[in-house]
Amino acid sequence: MAEAANHPERVWVTGANGLIGSHLIHLAKSSVPAWQVVPIVRAAFDLTDSRAVVTAFQKERPKLIIHCAALSRSPECQANPKLAHEINVEVTKFLADLATDISFIFFSTDLVFNGQQGNYVETDKPNPLSVYAETKVMAERHVLRNPHHTVIRTSLNAGPSLQGDRGMDEQMLSALREGKALNLFTDEFRTPIPAEETARAVWQLAQQKAKGVYHVAGAERLSRWQIGELMCERYPQYRSQIHATSLSTYQGAPRSPDTSLNCAKAQAKLPFVLPKFSEWWRQRAKSEL
Ligand SMILES: NC(=O)c1ccc[n+]([C@@H]2O[C@H](COP(=O)([O-])OP(=O)(O)OC[C@H]3O[C@@H](n4cnc5c(N)ncnc54)[C@H](OP(=O)(O)O)[C@@H]3O)[C@@H](O)[C@H]2O)c1
Repeated sequence: MAEAANHPERVWVTGANGLIGSHLIHLAKSSVPAWQVVPIVRAAFDLTDSRAVVTAFQKERPKLIIHCAALSRSPECQANPKLAHEINVEVTKFLADLATDISFIFFSTDLVFNGQQGNYVETDKPNPLSVYAETKVMAERHVLRNPHHTVIRTSLNAGPSLQGDRGMDEQMLSALREGKALNLFTDEFRTPIPAEETARAVWQLAQQKAKGVYHVAGAERLSRWQIGELMCERYPQYRSQIHATSLSTYQGAPRSPDTSLNCAKAQAKLPFVLPKFSEWWRQRAKSEL
């Protein structure tokens, strides 16, 4: 980490080795060339170690924190609500309070909604159904007490990750490669987006000092089944392993049927069009041939 303090445009990106954080770091040079972007990774310090966080903050004096670090997998949060609360709520509160006088961007999720409506706008009322989503709603409420702070709600993010297992497409493909059968809902909808485009949009919003809540997701509402079909266009050898199923036959923890996000508010601030997932995926498949 750099030693000098008071750099005018130093930015912290927490969770910088994660899917979205790594894309923010990768795009920093081209998106915000004048800014000094500092990746904050667990190996440097654990974000639950508040003393280490304060020491680093006082030394570095960032002007913006983009907070990507989280317990981001819903089943893990469901299995360990205490840890989910500590990382997703307490760490976020602590960082947001530390950032009282600077900009702060917090990543939240489309799953804050119960999915009964779809095409959600920023002013729709959150109604979380899972531990993961509950922790995000609690953290959002704290962040938004500061009128200068920002919440980005995104949907399923795809694309390459440093570990090879964080992108939504990477996870589906690795299950298929392991020979697993995937039961995919035809009636559960999201607005998937490549993580690279999420990162590109967030750098734009950061430069414009956009405050409040923004939805940043793909421009296309797709069911889990449609996403699986797209995967199999590129990898037809796995077609026999994907099976269409309906939420009406599902038994388990509650699921949100349609958490598609309306991104018009963010789109109005962006100099590029938020992509349709299918177009991105097909383009990528073509470029790999
Ligand atoms: N990806 C999606 O589809 C999606 C969708 C909606 C919302 N979001 C939200 O967007 C944000 C970024 O997501 P992502 O997919 O990039 O997540 P990710 O790949 O799971 O990355 C999260 C990062 O946080 C780090 N981290 C967790 N606890 C930490 C701690 N106590 N101290 C230091 N680092 C810690 C992890 O480090 P380790 O690698 O060492 O564990 C990991 O690098 C998250 O808030 C997530 O909830 C993501």
